[in-house]
Amino acid sequence: MFEFYLLIFLLIIVCAIVISSLKIGISPMPSSKASHKIILDYVKKTENKTIIDLGSGFGSLAIFLASNLPNRKIIGYELSFFPWLISIFLKKLLRLENLHFYKKDFLKQDLKNATLVCYLYFKGMKKLEDKLFEDSINTTIISNTFSFFNIKYRDKLYANDLFKTPIYLYMT
Ligand SMILES: C[S@@+](CC[C@H](N)C(=O)[O-])C[C@H]1O[C@@H](n2cnc3c(N)ncnc32)[C@H](O)[C@@H]1O
Repeated sequence: MFEFYLLIFLLIIVCAIVISSLKIGISPMPSSKASHKIILDYVKKTENKTIIDLGSGFGSLAIFLASNLPNRKIIGYELSFFPWLISIFLKKLLRLENLHFYKKDFLKQDLKNATLVCYLYFKGMKKLEDKLFEDSINTTIISNTFSFFNIKYRDKLYANDLFKTPIYLYMT
């Protein structure tokens, strides 16, 4: 009987994640280990004390950055409830004091004075691009897979993973 309730519980979580992914426009699919490495190398070259993961999903990229950059403050904004909850749990488990997850829409947050990393989708990139212009944000942005429409990237590397994922470096 316990297995039955566990199965129902897991099904509810999966359904909730699918429904919120459909609403938001992208699932909380984590970026690959190979892309983490490239993103870390790009982030290391920036001077901002704060790094923001725009849509932190289950938190794997933000956790990787927080573990490797103990002197920087890593913030993850995530809209989807269960991925956010899991990221909070992992942060507490790993005791990463420099890591902070918020269940918030990053489009409504102050993104100034921070290096930005993202793995979004076409419409999400458009919304982020509009916000960068509207708020006059001059910073470094590292985007996994998707590029901006009007801003030209400074550099582009391919991760050594199954999809040869492109990672774009922008400086606005
Ligand atoms: C593909 S996942 C990337 C997860 C993580 N950044 C990584 O690279 O492993 C994209 C996440 O962005 C979140 N997201 C999309 N738009 C958002 C918004 N406006 N505010 C907060 N989170 C958002 C989605 O819910 C999803 O979990």
